Amino acid sequence: MAKAADYGLGPKTFPTGWFIVAESSELDKGPMAIRFFGRDLALYRGESGNPVVLDAYCKHMGTHLTASDSAMIVKNGLQIEGDSIRCPYHGWRYNSAGDVDDIPYHDGPCPKSASIRSYPVVDNMGCIMVWFDEDGAEPSYDAPFLKEWDNPQWIHWQLDHLGELDIHPQEVLDNMSDMRHLGPTHGAPCQYFENEAKGHIYIQRQGGPMQLYGGVMLYTTTWYTGPGILLSKQVWGDTVQYELIANTPVDDGRIKAWHACLV
Ligand code: FES
Repeated sequence: MAKAADYGLGPKTFPTGWFIVAESSELDKGPMAIRFFGRDLALYRGESGNPVVLDAYCKHMGTHLTASDSAMIVKNGLQIEGDSIRCPYHGWRYNSAGDVDDIPYHDGPCPKSASIRSYPVVDNMGCIMVWFDEDGAEPSYDAPFLKEWDNPQWIHWQLDHLGELDIHPQEVLDNMSDMRHLGPTHGAPCQYFENEAKGHIYIQRQGGPMQLYGGVMLYTTTWYTGPGILLSKQVWGDTVQYELIANTPVDDGRIKAWHACLV
């Protein structure tokens, strides 16, 4: 299992970009305790409908904001107020920017030192996508979006949750240039193949006959938007589909992965 330092990719342990951290429907059950980028995170949906991602631990006494299912404030469904969340221990309220804006037993100003990190997050194509940069830089590009998602003739995907794997995210990206696995693995050896890097977009174009469909030609255009979210337009015969493959660092040398198809 390679770590970031083994690849010599620079001073950062984790790559920068938009990453999937959950399927949108998972939030219907309430706040989630998640772990990505080597840190514990609190994910919940505010009353506006917008998702919020904060560092997990309250600065008061270190309670995880979204891990309790036994605190009465959680059982009574009173933890979320607007887009803010109350800590399940003493009820300090964190807003979506990560600042404490109410302490139930205190009338004075809330301590700025109690603030925790908030992360840019979007609810996009059935996925909760978080922008992560180790140094806290703001997003430098938009999360990927397929216009077909808003077209009712396309059937929305549900994510296949592929679980966690002990590999470095670089090893997932390497597949984009691996033309020689397409025959043995997918039964569609390529007749043409190219890669192109355009800023934060990394593209693969390839095509070849599909053994599963009697040699019908498959044409694919596949692109990463940043290092974590792959979309692929795949055309054969009368069929067109988009495939999603996403991987998000959990810890150094470990990822979580998802897969889906829009047809
Ligand atoms: S530990 Fe969070 S309010 Fe006290």
